[in-house]
Amino acid sequence: MAEKIAVYPGSFDPITYGHLDIIKRAIKVFDRVIVAVAHNYDKQSLFTPEEKIEMITEAVKDYPTVSVDAFHGLLMEYMKKAKATVALRGLRATSDFDYEYHMAAMNRSLDDSIDTLFMMTGKDYFFISSRTIKEVASLGGLVTGLVPDHVALKLQEKSIHKQKG
Ligand code: PNS
Repeated sequence: MAEKIAVYPGSFDPITYGHLDIIKRAIKVFDRVIVAVAHNYDKQSLFTPEEKIEMITEAVKDYPTVSVDAFHGLLMEYMKKAKATVALRGLRATSDFDYEYHMAAMNRSLDDSIDTLFMMTGKDYFFISSRTIKEVASLGGLVTGLVPDHVALKLQEKSIHKQKG
């Protein structure tokens, strides 16, 4: 039987425990999970794609069925090449739904052989977003327990550089 491959796409700027919660849930459902960092030209990122990949790779090192990759352009094109049939997205709150619904509908109109699967973020993580994590960290707030330690360290380094620069 063909392997069941899911792609978990996102900006991951940076990866949080909310993302990792979704990855851990997905491992139980799919033979392979590819965490795919999107190069979004219209989005200002704090971290480079290389830094994001490095942080995610470290965070998923104990999960042999998870791999990390990056893609340019359309997600559906990338997924076709990766032979993945499911795009995975996490839902934290109903406020995520509108954006996610439109994205899933657009993706389906591009390729209806690929489905978007939504997973609910665990109750301990529903308030975490990369955006708020960056804001708190840049203002000197503690993000331990919200992102892996190596990510917290990277965030700290970035804000130190910013203060110096
Ligand atoms: O973490 P994010 O920023 O919510 O992730 C959004 C992402 C990267 C999944 C989305 O922007 C995306 O798939 N970008 C690739 C371009 C694409 O395929 N766009 C068509 C779908 S609207």
